[in-house]
Amino acid sequence: MIRLGEKRRQRAIVFVDSAVARMHPGLERRIQSYFRAHSDRIRLVEAPRVLPGGEPVKQDFRVPLQIIRAIVRHPLCRHSYVVGVGGGAVLDAVGFAASLVHRGLRVIRLPTTALAQADAGVGVKTGINFDGRKNLLGTFAPPFAVLNDLDFLETLSDREWNDGIAEAFKVAIIRSAPFFRFLTTHLADLRRRDPLILEQLVRRCAALHLAHIRRSGDAFEMGSARPLDFAHWSAHKIEVMSRHRLSHGEAVACGMALDCLYASEHGWISREDCATVCRALIALGFNLWPSELRRRKRDGSLAILGGLADFREHLGGELHVTFPRGIGRKFEVNAVEPSGVGRAVKGLWRMSRKKAQVIVAAISRSRMGRA
Ligand SMILES: NC(=O)c1ccc[n+]([C@@H]2O[C@H](COP(=O)([O-])OP(=O)(O)OC[C@H]3O[C@@H](n4cnc5c(N)ncnc54)[C@H](O)[C@@H]3O)[C@@H](O)[C@H]2O)c1
Ligand SMILES: [Zn+2]
Repeated sequence: MIRLGEKRRQRAIVFVDSAVARMHPGLERRIQSYFRAHSDRIRLVEAPRVLPGGEPVKQDFRVPLQIIRAIVRHPLCRHSYVVGVGGGAVLDAVGFAASLVHRGLRVIRLPTTALAQADAGVGVKTGINFDGRKNLLGTFAPPFAVLNDLDFLETLSDREWNDGIAEAFKVAIIRSAPFFRFLTTHLADLRRRDPLILEQLVRRCAALHLAHIRRSGDAFEMGSARPLDFAHWSAHKIEVMSRHRLSHGEAVACGMALDCLYASEHGWISREDCATVCRALIALGFNLWPSELRRRKRDGSLAILGGLADFREHLGGELHVTFPRGIGRKFEVNAVEPSGVGRAVKGLWRMSRKKAQVIVAAISRSRMGRA
């Protein structure tokens, strides 16, 4: 308690995502009245500042510099709190800026998207894009606290919700068979955004992420392995190739289907489990056959294979790709065969032709699972 300086009157500054400010009218007023009600303990140094929501906020140094200037102007010290309310992008920009001033102020995150509550918000990383490269600059800076308030999620579009669901599948497939069963038996509930099911999804995802950070022995990613990046070697590539027409979650859904087909061909997961994953993703509305998958380079090779080279570079020269080994368990490989990826792509093409049957089968299995 003494270490944290609980006896002093602390100061705080709050940054709010523009979409959250717009869709939750009165939020800024309520933030101010919260601080007024606790004015004996903490002082809000200025009215909440609204930052542009989404990727533009972390596209370069502009907004992070504004945040740094606001912090320095007051000036806030290492006992002060910098509060970020928003999606993963706003939290990344606020966290990055706050981690640089005096080597790190206390950051409190209030994630407001499904992905941020389940994933980005509970992590230890911050980052901004630089020179056209995603998250090239960033810091490891664990937050002081994270507050997940599910009420924020009501204003998300279905597409933004689905991004969170895709990441939930990702973590379930490699870390938790019970969570995977939970997701696949509630496909219809997920589609109609049943609040109780969504609450469980966020809670379980956040807990799995925290468990990974606490127990992996490599919270600050000193090693080469990136175990939570299952399906991301192709997802990042597909997302960029589509010039962000596809959202991150949509690309992750394709990446998971592709890697599950590859894994089933190698006997790492059963054909039935692979089919369950693909059926579930299609039933949730993901298109597993975007045009990027069939694009080829001049030499005739699949363009998505470039994702493996990018991944290798990102990991410092050696390839580490996480695959499921049975649902709920994972392992790593250091090579991915292009011919195997080609066959997996063909498998997705075949599946896309039978899409309607696949959806009916997934929903009826999901109902049977609950019965
Ligand atoms: N630091 C990490 O560990 C980590 C982990 C995963 C992802 N990320 C980063 O997170 C970012 C993606 O985060 P995201 O998926 O939360 O998307 P996002 O932050 O880009 O937000 C998506 C959109 O939703 C809006 N929004 C936010 N909250 C809303 C609400 N409650 N209602 C309606 N609209 C709302 C935003 O303004 C934005 O337009 C990426 O930049 C990614 O690199 C960081
Ligand atoms: Zn992701």
